[in-house]
Amino acid sequence: MSFADRVQNPALRTKIMSADEAAALIPAGANVGMSGFTGAGYPKAVPQALARRIESLHAAGEEFRIGLWTGASTAPELDGALAKVHGIEMRLPYQSDPTCRRQINAGEMQYTDMHLSNVAQFVWFGFLGKLSVAVVEVAGILPDGRLIPSSSVGNNKTWLDQADQIILEVNTLQNPGLEGMHDIYYGTRLPPHRQPIPLTGPGDRIGEPYLTCDLDKVIAVVPTSQPDRNSAFAAPDENSQRIASHIIEFLQQEVKLGRLPAELLPLQSGVGNIANAVLAGLNDGPFKDLTAYTEVLQDGMLDMLRSGTLAMASATALSFSPVALADFNENIDFYRERIVLRPQEISNHPEVVRRLGVIAMNAMIEADLYGNVNSTHIMGSSIMNGIGGSGDFARNAYLSFFMTPSVAKDGAISCIVPMASHVDHTEHDVEIIVTEQGLADLRGLSPTQRARLIIEKCAHPDFRPALLDYFERSLKTAAGKHTPHLLDEALSWHSRYLKTGDMRPVAAVQEALHLV
Ligand code: COA
Repeated sequence: MSFADRVQNPALRTKIMSADEAAALIPAGANVGMSGFTGAGYPKAVPQALARRIESLHAAGEEFRIGLWTGASTAPELDGALAKVHGIEMRLPYQSDPTCRRQINAGEMQYTDMHLSNVAQFVWFGFLGKLSVAVVEVAGILPDGRLIPSSSVGNNKTWLDQADQIILEVNTLQNPGLEGMHDIYYGTRLPPHRQPIPLTGPGDRIGEPYLTCDLDKVIAVVPTSQPDRNSAFAAPDENSQRIASHIIEFLQQEVKLGRLPAELLPLQSGVGNIANAVLAGLNDGPFKDLTAYTEVLQDGMLDMLRSGTLAMASATALSFSPVALADFNENIDFYRERIVLRPQEISNHPEVVRRLGVIAMNAMIEADLYGNVNSTHIMGSSIMNGIGGSGDFARNAYLSFFMTPSVAKDGAISCIVPMASHVDHTEHDVEIIVTEQGLADLRGLSPTQRARLIIEKCAHPDFRPALLDYFERSLKTAAGKHTPHLLDEALSWHSRYLKTGDMRPVAAVQEALHLV
């Protein structure tokens, strides 16, 4: 379908212009709300044009930076391009771009890492300041001006509502068959006038398939024809497969015990290779007629929909490899009946997650002996990506899994540590910890019971004795026996890593390397 066919509204046709012309309309210092979620549905042409403009302004000695708000992570054409020209003053609510990460950790870019379900309401509450411009990718514009959303919804409804001015990028590479897959709920209000969200099943449609906006606010309509990020996933490695099999075995046991129905409860799966491997394991496993109430649909869930293991999936974004995307595009009529794409304030809504009884499965960086989880920081100080939706789901889930390989960096780092160097999910929100070594079911356990189980089931054998030693000495010497710690030692594993490149004491490393 050509660009002209996609822009059917006569008034908006008069606003068609190039990306460079549109980028020239964005003022310095503006907060700009751009579409995009996990490398899907982000504007491609305008951010790159804006980066070119910023580069030439900076070369002329003129300062120009924006506040950049999105749904979640985007791609090199957006985060990467704007960060490379030092064009971002403040970034929120999530990123995974290497240049952004470097600048944030160097103190050159401010970053507000937020629960993704909170972003829209924080904007309505006025907590984040004024949103000046929305730059939103769409798949098309209907004659009456309603917008066909693209491969992600994210915060687009809020950006279109709240921004003073709107730039639309119409991407002719997005499948026109996306029309009808979205469910945009316009019933959210501000407290004290809020009503229950009328969603009782993952496949329920409670809104409309289109985004709407005040057409007078649209200042530009820009053609694009560029693909989404579409990164390939690694084939599941042995560790991921073992993590997957521990989870599947546990879920089977829960069904046997009558604590889960045979078709389980709606699944939420985090991003990345481990999450994808768990889905591959579920696809090969014993379950049928599953459903998903999740944030991002990756290849794994598409495979499950195709095989019939998954009957229905709700999300806010599609994040596929090129192979999965080809299948999606070819069979979009089949998938449209089984996928609902919603605003992230609904896909991640705590009320709905609690009501549906979601089974949350998220990756982590490290966990401590008592089950506090760090999902975002390396060695306490450096951001990796952000909390994303993991907190939205974990706190409100029926079951909350956190998973990681037991060691990182070729065994130099234990992902089970005496004290987490940063905490995103407290012991109160973490029910099950899984590594390739095993699974620790922490439900109903006291901190000291948790510690013994986590060490026994999840820690790598290279670190198990040292963890046990730390725990036993804490128990003996700490003043409080409820959650005992040796405060002088609690973060010594991290500081040793920062000094020596290894969490293990020097003698242990020498032994491992056969140097003694
Ligand atoms: N200490 C230091 N570094 C560690 C580490 C630890 N305990 N554990 C892992 N790492 C490093 C890895 O070595 C790797 O480094 P590299 O990029 O230099 O190779 C990097 O962290 C990523 O680890 P990896 O095992 O590849 O994990 P991943 O891609 O599965 O990502 C998270 C794991 C936690 C970073 C990722 O899932 C995330 O950002 N989560 C938070 C957001 C979220 O949960 N979103 C989903 C909600 S819907």
